[in-house]
Amino acid sequence: MAATSPTPLAIEAQGLRKAFGKTLALDGVDLRVPRGMVYGLLGPNGAGKSTVVRVLATLIRPDEGTATVDGLDVVRSAAAVRTHIGLAGQYAAVDEYLTGRENLVMFGRLSGLRKADAKSRAATLLEQFDLVDAADRPSKGYSGGMRRRLDLAASLASRPPVLFLDEPTTGLDPRSRLTMWGVIQGLVNDGTTVLLTTQYLEEADRLAQRLAVIDRGRVIAEGTPAELKARVGGEGLEVAVVDPVDLEAVRAIVARHATDEVFVDVERRRVRAAVGDGALALSAVAAAIAQAGITTEDVGLHRPTLDEVFLAITGRPVDEGTGDPEEHGDGGATGAGPDAGEGAVPDRPRPGGPRPRS
Ligand SMILES: Nc1ncnc2c1ncn2[C@@H]1O[C@H](COP(=O)(O)OP(=O)(O)O)[C@@H](O)[C@H]1O
Ligand SMILES: [Mg+2]
Repeated sequence: MAATSPTPLAIEAQGLRKAFGKTLALDGVDLRVPRGMVYGLLGPNGAGKSTVVRVLATLIRPDEGTATVDGLDVVRSAAAVRTHIGLAGQYAAVDEYLTGRENLVMFGRLSGLRKADAKSRAATLLEQFDLVDAADRPSKGYSGGMRRRLDLAASLASRPPVLFLDEPTTGLDPRSRLTMWGVIQGLVNDGTTVLLTTQYLEEADRLAQRLAVIDRGRVIAEGTPAELKARVGGEGLEVAVVDPVDLEAVRAIVARHATDEVFVDVERRRVRAAVGDGALALSAVAAAIAQAGITTEDVGLHRPTLDEVFLAITGRPVDEGTGDPEEHGDGGATGAGPDAGEGAVPDRPRPGGPRPRS
């Protein structure tokens, strides 16, 4: 066995495979995460993001493959790995009967800090996470965004060099999401390596220096956000209509300028497509819509979405969910929190079986 040489990588995974019953959650995941950056793991619901995090955080063992965090093997040196990592996400681990401050002191104590140190660490974190005003109220009364921030602060009590953030903003309102983004950006300034999972390209784009796109348990693309967006080609044009009846007419207008498939989002009454020259397409589409007498809520250029990146890379749209809100990760009932045992998540059959290479 070769001696492990110190690696510049914070996280390295090779060929991770993990099955839950008949569901192959990870189908050979490779990852190389350099130190000191936010690294995004971007993929649709059910892609395998949380399973990757749970393997790396030593909560479950891979069936095959190896991984190291901070140079430590996640299976052979699991206990040591745990002292190097923090984990936070959608499912808060804080005790809601304690105040924010008490929670943070408790987590500091649990991570081995002396009482005075735990107290001063708690005060620093409350400041850093904009929780000073609420510090001495029971966390039960906190808003969703505040709880998420408290949970994140708790995971940082021991100053872990590597932090896993599993969909830290899913289910948050836009304002809380912005606050959270600021907080995450601040972490990297402290030298922390962050592995951030998300379903939103916009979020990965905003926070991550590099990212891997994961689909059906495999990494299908890796690079900087700019590299991945370049694969979509061109800017996106988006039209929101007032009356859904107009969607079809708008789709036809947009299609004349689209360089690829036109997406119609009936629920949000939007039509989107990649276009070549954004400004030109924008004025032409706006004119045609006005001429057709269609009332719009918004016509504008937008950045590519995960769906578009996905389509460009895989040649197929993101797997359709069941439409059940729980599918979007915020359903407490199915909460596959960090401490949820294996089998806690209902097996979800994946449409399509093995990757079609169309
Ligand atoms: N404990 C479990 N038991 C059974 N199936 C699971 C379990 N955890 C995850 N899965 C399945 O593995 C696949 C990947 O899940 P997950 O890693 O949670 O995806 P993501 O976090 O990207 O939404 C999904 O099909 C999911 O249903
Ligand atoms: Mg998940």
